[in-house]
Amino acid sequence: MQGTITLFRRSVDLIMRVLGIETSCDETGLAVFDSAHGLLAHALHSQVDLHAAYGGVVPELASRDHIRRLLPLIRKVLAEAGMAGGDLDGIAYTAGPGLIGALLTGVSLGRSLAYAWGIPAVAVHHMEAHLLAPMLETPAPAFPFLALLVSGGHTQLVLVHAFGEYEILGESLDDAAGEAFDKTAKLLGLGYPGGPALSALAERGTPGRFNFPRPMTDRPGLEFSFSGLKTSVVNLVRGEADDDQTRADVARAFVDAVVDTLVIKCRRAMEEYGATCLVAAGGVSANRQLRRALETMVSEEGGQVFYPRPEFCTDNGAMIAYAGCLHLQQGETEPLSFAAHPRWPLVQQ
Ligand code: KG4
Ligand code: ZN
Repeated sequence: MQGTITLFRRSVDLIMRVLGIETSCDETGLAVFDSAHGLLAHALHSQVDLHAAYGGVVPELASRDHIRRLLPLIRKVLAEAGMAGGDLDGIAYTAGPGLIGALLTGVSLGRSLAYAWGIPAVAVHHMEAHLLAPMLETPAPAFPFLALLVSGGHTQLVLVHAFGEYEILGESLDDAAGEAFDKTAKLLGLGYPGGPALSALAERGTPGRFNFPRPMTDRPGLEFSFSGLKTSVVNLVRGEADDDQTRADVARAFVDAVVDTLVIKCRRAMEEYGATCLVAAGGVSANRQLRRALETMVSEEGGQVFYPRPEFCTDNGAMIAYAGCLHLQQGETEPLSFAAHPRWPLVQQ
């Protein structure tokens, strides 16, 4: 991945305590990870209330709020970990992909603090951190595994051969799964952020009253396309979704279609690549309907599925501290001329 250089080789056995900083979108996440003792502290400030009135994330407000929250939260996690800044062995920050202004708040502060404290800093790829997040849990998945990454900006199936060795098997050609949840939630008047509210509404819906397509499942391949589902919802909502039960039934049809589509593609990838270990990560992996369906499918396939705990499915500092620790243990470090990458492919072509 671009943005990191290897200055010296280090042993993966080296014990390191790393501060993780996440500011790629609308959550300020901080954590201290210790490679010998696990997660020592983590803290999160969500900007949901700040953006709710606008129906979505306002980038400039997001950046300003990260600036307000970062230092107090860093003090908080260091105190919780019983450490001073100088006790850290490194700092990791999300350098992309994400909102440029939001990214720059974490990158510039993280890089500067590392300089001041005389420790290395490392840039972390947000989606790599998501896919490694289940490794913070017990039991943790072991490499190699298949990863379903489902967030607000990405839907990807990734074959994870080892740490740093990723092969993208398929991804969304248009909207990400989380984006489809958010847009559909808006159409149903559920506000921002829509995913969890839409999922809750769907639980009260009647299965089978409406039926939406399972996009791109009728042809071979592992790509996704979720933007058409939105159109199906728009057409229905215009026509008849004016009572609460109908809205719940539409939500149910939408969630069933997204979940079914994701599960069909995961099963296909597991069978094609002989994978028995599936990891689901990113905000949408907190979804209860998706978890239930993946568990059924994976047990039919004789495999096992792993997720982060729900609070680490969505954006957080713990996954950044953990991924950063793995990079730092390999001797990777950022030069002083740091950079943020709003668009940053997980795998360089
Ligand atoms: O990973 P994440 O926090 O941020 C990105 O990297 O994009 O994912 C946020 C996305 C949002 O689209 C949100 O609506 C969705 O994850 N999400 C959910 C649930 N919790 C969060 N979608 C469906 N069901 C949920 N329970
Ligand atoms: Zn994320």
